[in-house]
Amino acid sequence: MANYLITGVAGFIGSHLAHALVAQGHSVRGIDNLATGLQTNLDELAGKTDFRLVDVRDAAATAAACEGIDVILHQAAIPSVPRSVLDPRTSHEANTNGTFNLLEGARAAGVSRVVYAASSSAYGDQPGFPRKETMAPQPISPYAVQKLTGELYMQSYWRVYGLETVCLRYFNIFGPRQDPNSPYSGVMARFIAQMLNGETPTILGDGEQGRDFTYVDNAVQANLLAATVPAERCAGRVFNVACGERHTLNQTYSYLRELLDFPHPANHGPTRSGDVRDSLADISEARHQLGYEPAVGFREGLTRTISWYRTQPTR
Ligand code: UD1
Repeated sequence: MANYLITGVAGFIGSHLAHALVAQGHSVRGIDNLATGLQTNLDELAGKTDFRLVDVRDAAATAAACEGIDVILHQAAIPSVPRSVLDPRTSHEANTNGTFNLLEGARAAGVSRVVYAASSSAYGDQPGFPRKETMAPQPISPYAVQKLTGELYMQSYWRVYGLETVCLRYFNIFGPRQDPNSPYSGVMARFIAQMLNGETPTILGDGEQGRDFTYVDNAVQANLLAATVPAERCAGRVFNVACGERHTLNQTYSYLRELLDFPHPANHGPTRSGDVRDSLADISEARHQLGYEPAVGFREGLTRTISWYRTQPTR
């Protein structure tokens, strides 16, 4: 059993990681500033984790949280491409400076390994599908640049300091506990919550943009593997975490309509600035090196996600 630190523990993916690690009997410390995370995401874990109200922009508090830790799963970030377009400084401070603070804390504390939540947005709009980790990154939005900067720092800390770092490029993760209530919420959470409330969602652009939507359990699996496989298979490396399937927003909306028995066609609005047109991953590296295999497919993931949102009193 190992001592884990999860940053962004009260957020969507962080809280799923906390549940999984506690279920496996590990010791879990979690930090969050509760800016976008929700304490209620950890309700079922009351008394089972060492929760600390810490902001990764605070270097000293972040370093203190790293003490006595073996493995860090670094999820803390201000997500959202459009939010970074509107306010690049705030997301830079959390995403880039916060990641740097975390690495410095990990190095000082002698942490063995850091697994980092990187982003598929690093690939940008270049030609060539599916996306392979060997492609040169071409980030478009400030968010993509910030997340890619974190990757470069991760790789540097492996090569220079021998801190084992693993970057997982998440492809549009969705599932229970993803917050639907912000204008910057991921499209799946937003659409499901709107439809359950009887509101008609807006597709931005023509709806033919594609995403490799990935159910959250698959991201959890990738983290648990990246935390434990031998360093020679993963340290200093980058892996796509996805399902390896592309679904357009128009297709996704029609699945949701069918599953929710929703009568109305979508509204359409203007294409979002900084938006990537298409996204589809090659997941063979994660398969070969980590032993990753997506266990929950797109349709099953949608069904589980809808079931969870139905249980929520306020959406
Ligand atoms: C990007 C990353 C993703 C990362 C996420 C973090 C890519 C390909 N993906 O997601 O890996 O986890 O940032 O925030 O870069 N949309 C609508 N209507 C809405 C909301 C969104 O049509 O009400 C559209 C967007 O314009 C976009 C798609 O849905 O084309 C997905 O948007 P979103 O869920 O915000 O994620 P990405 O920006 O693709």
